[in-house]
Amino acid sequence: MRKLKDIRPIKVENYKLYVLNQLKLPLEEEWLELSTYEDVAKAIKDMIVRGAPLIGIVGAYGFAIGVKQLIKEGKPLENAKKVLKTLKNTRPTAVNLFWALDRIWKKFEKWKNEKTKEELVKAFFKEANKIDLEDYHANKSIGGYGQVLIPKKANILTHCNTGALATSGWGTALGVIRSAYEEGKDITVYVDETRPYLQGARLTAWELVQEGIPHYLITDNSAGFLISKGLIDVIIVGADRITANGDVANKIGTFTLSVLAKEYNIPFYVAAPTTTFDLETEKGEDIPIEERNENEVKKCGGCAIAPIETKALNYSFDITPAENITAIITEKGIINEINKENIKKFLKGDIK
Ligand code: MRU
Repeated sequence: MRKLKDIRPIKVENYKLYVLNQLKLPLEEEWLELSTYEDVAKAIKDMIVRGAPLIGIVGAYGFAIGVKQLIKEGKPLENAKKVLKTLKNTRPTAVNLFWALDRIWKKFEKWKNEKTKEELVKAFFKEANKIDLEDYHANKSIGGYGQVLIPKKANILTHCNTGALATSGWGTALGVIRSAYEEGKDITVYVDETRPYLQGARLTAWELVQEGIPHYLITDNSAGFLISKGLIDVIIVGADRITANGDVANKIGTFTLSVLAKEYNIPFYVAAPTTTFDLETEKGEDIPIEERNENEVKKCGGCAIAPIETKALNYSFDITPAENITAIITEKGIINEINKENIKKFLKGDIK
């Protein structure tokens, strides 16, 4: 077994939250303290922290920070509703944020009359830490199940950043790649640069360099050519939300890859923890898709790359229909036949 590093995107010390500023990577490793819940909401919105599981975790810590703030400022606990709303009102697509905050809110309704103010702050930090740790263990388990699907020698294409930086650590799709490499498999990763935020170029490539995993960075529009030449054996991506019927919202560009995979008959895997499933949303087209500022497309590294007069479209995610997905890898096992009934049974633990 190869020994890998343990990259973590956040740390908590003495009830203070520090995050690795993902806007500065790979050039600078800057840690920022987020000391108010408004700071946390802004960090999520501005993508200082990003990735579906990580924004859920950071959102949960944000609520704990908000409760601490209300108590310090002598404000009534009823204002916690505003904290919740502010944190929810940051990024609309990844369901993990809403999942984590709904879990925290249920605790708030129970604990607000049971605990002293001091106990409350400690209890919310502890709950956020639980969510954080559960995610880490889920990722290791996804890696374990997923790496079995990776051939002993494989060229793997991935999109966006689904690694340690998008989660509590290890990662989902990149976690599977990590686990396969840790097992000693001979893999090469093809990393889509992932315009416009460049999660692939800036973050995935940075993680792969840290681990010494062989990789090539490719432009997003290279995938079709590489696949048509038979250079890619497997495609693996993460997810921001998986609906009841198995449709997947993930970083814009994922859908295109799934169509290529189908056309060229190569496996297309989605790796995600079960916290990414949203059974209340029936199908992909019902998922709210975040549209971000056009300047993210019109500028790169602060430099204008298009005429000021040109308007740009900046949808952050797209929908991959269940039928294009070979299997969904979760911490509880693998869903091979993706349909509403199977997903429901799988999540209830009725099928493995
Ligand atoms: O806009 P981002 O960077 O938050 O989008 C991230 C992705 O789309 C990831 O693929 C997804 O969150 C899965 S991360 C484990």
